[in-house]
Amino acid sequence: MDTIERLPYDQRPANRDLSHLDGEYGWPLVGKTLDMFRNPHEMFARHYEKYGAISRISITGNKCVLLLHPDYVQRVLLDREKNFSIKKGWESVMAEFFEGGLVMRDFEEHRLHRGIMQTSFKPDAMREYVTRIQSIVKHAVERWALQDTFLFYEEVKRLLLDIAFDVFCWVDDSEMTVKTMNKAFTDMMEGALGIVRLKIPGLLYHRGLRGRQYLKGFFMGLIEEKRASADRDVFAHFCRAKTEDGSYYDDEDIADHMVFLMLAAHDTTTSAATMAAYYLCNDDDLQARLAEDVACSDQPFSYEAFFHEMKEMVGVFYETLRMHPPVSMFLRRTIRECEFDGVRVPADTMVCVPGAYIHRLEEFWRDPNTFDPTRFSEEVNEHRNHNFMWIPFGGGAHKCIGMHFARLLFMQTFAEMVGNYRMEFAKRDYFPAKLQYFPFSKPVDSLPMKLVPRS
Ligand code: HEM
Repeated sequence: MDTIERLPYDQRPANRDLSHLDGEYGWPLVGKTLDMFRNPHEMFARHYEKYGAISRISITGNKCVLLLHPDYVQRVLLDREKNFSIKKGWESVMAEFFEGGLVMRDFEEHRLHRGIMQTSFKPDAMREYVTRIQSIVKHAVERWALQDTFLFYEEVKRLLLDIAFDVFCWVDDSEMTVKTMNKAFTDMMEGALGIVRLKIPGLLYHRGLRGRQYLKGFFMGLIEEKRASADRDVFAHFCRAKTEDGSYYDDEDIADHMVFLMLAAHDTTTSAATMAAYYLCNDDDLQARLAEDVACSDQPFSYEAFFHEMKEMVGVFYETLRMHPPVSMFLRRTIRECEFDGVRVPADTMVCVPGAYIHRLEEFWRDPNTFDPTRFSEEVNEHRNHNFMWIPFGGGAHKCIGMHFARLLFMQTFAEMVGNYRMEFAKRDYFPAKLQYFPFSKPVDSLPMKLVPRS
């Protein structure tokens, strides 16, 4: 055994020799990354047609094994044999921004840390968030309706940030605090998603790291106060959470989890809402059916209504996530050599599972490039043909902890809009619009639209 092999898996360099596999890397340095940014669906479709369900590729600066079959997704996400490190996967692209977050922790360490978040997302806590979210959403939608036209993406992003500050951390809402937090958060998001990743003052990446540092410091400074308070926001739950031996979690860990939570929650939900609005503006009949659904539910909407009623709205949520999953790929690194249908994947190799393409595989989905929420209706249930063909929230130990929260935000926002207004594109002949796919899907012009009161 040589020296490198004796190192723990998270200290070994990545394996970059995949010459035994079919596939292509693309351009030097950037590989296929730019093609993927332009249109991931087309890029992965071409790769799949040429090389099949397992091949080599170079994306995001990594030489990877690309896995394009739900059976492979199942093996990687469930990871019963502990062959795949999520930490080494995400670290390769997001190390500094995700530091200390749940996706930067493997196996037992991850299990212990996930405990910090459990209470915050239990139904009792969620029921309480519903009431708070309702009033924020109602005001925002009323404000949008007063404008001739507005950019949906920009407005929903602001709305979700307001909700995050309120529900996640009940920050003192003095204008100064909100403004500084907002700026730090926006800088962090832009830095995390920037393409040029150099720590040079003035560049987005550098500003992003400064924003992250500010937020982390902000949370660290409040931990004692929150712990002693009777607050019931997400942050307060984290501060009071106890480890298995009965002690509080470390302050640094709590602050890192808060920062990661805000990153994980925000742009994902913003993108899903924007893409749903885009399809809804294009379908008056669907909007009318949703409005009927909403009218039949008790108002103000209860937590139960979002989970047990409004089935058609759930279909819209699911179908939007199928067409445009905000987390479009899963990155992992092998810890030891594995095999997929007889193909060898060496230890320390990056594997990439693009959910965005699994959601459009023609063998599994009927007419996959068409937006059709009825495929999730009880009569059709197309996504039930394989447990891992629809994976917008992942699966296994790292399955999204905020998935019900995301659904709540989505349902609340659209119930408020379609219940009272008709959503319309601001421009004629807008559909199909030019879309941006990376880092998250949205129309490139941020979806100019208007709300017209339902008579
Ligand atoms: C539509 C919105 C969302 C989507 C599509 C989404 C998707 C995902 C996915 C795919 C993962 C797993 C990543 C992996 O396995 O590599 C994940 C993890 C996570 N998400 Fe979400 N997410 C959304 C919203 C949220 C929200 C609102 C929150 C918090 C309130 C949240 C918090 C988290 C956290 C903390 C993790 C890490 C879980 C762990 O590693 O144990 N997400 N999310």
